[in-house]
Amino acid sequence: MKSLVLFDSNFGNTKIIAEVIADVLGGKAQSVNNFNADDLSGVDLLVVGSPINAWRATEKIRYFLSNLKTLKLNKISAAAFDTRIRIFFSGNAAKRIGKSLVEAGAELITPPLAFYVKDKEGPLAEGEIEKAKSWAAHLKTINRNHAVKKA
Ligand SMILES: Cc1cc2nc3c(=O)[nH]c(=O)nc-3n(C[C@H](O)[C@H](O)[C@H](O)COP(=O)(O)O)c2cc1C
Repeated sequence: MKSLVLFDSNFGNTKIIAEVIADVLGGKAQSVNNFNADDLSGVDLLVVGSPINAWRATEKIRYFLSNLKTLKLNKISAAAFDTRIRIFFSGNAAKRIGKSLVEAGAELITPPLAFYVKDKEGPLAEGEIEKAKSWAAHLKTINRNHAVKKA
């Protein structure tokens, strides 16, 4: 099983969540800045995370997602998350990322998830690291079952 957690991050909070998830999955956390198509080779679980900027994913993540359709994800497992502030209307980048992953041919194996920061530059809210660990453990289990079903 090979996992890739692709993220963008302005102040480091999304990066922390991505690294925690990658660590539990035994995979790699990679900035979208350094992404190239070969990075997807052999990947069977792709997780994409972005901070919410003006109610949606960052420009770099949106650009990555818009090019993803040409890469034929061919039913690999996928999951999406965002980081955001607790405000009345945050927007929902994770949901849109999930939708784009499905449009590119991936299968979302769990609903998109939000992680919270206390302020624009962080830090992460209490409990979010633990939440990331348990979400990743959950992803790992579902992905394993998913792989068995597909075999
Ligand atoms: C330009 C800008 C726009 C933002 N817009 C939103 C927003 O619409 N909704 C929200 O919940 N948070 C918003 N935020 C807060 C970000 O979600 C927060 O900075 C991010 O989660 C921190 O993650 P990072 O350290 O990985 O960049 C915004 C932050 C910036 C800098």
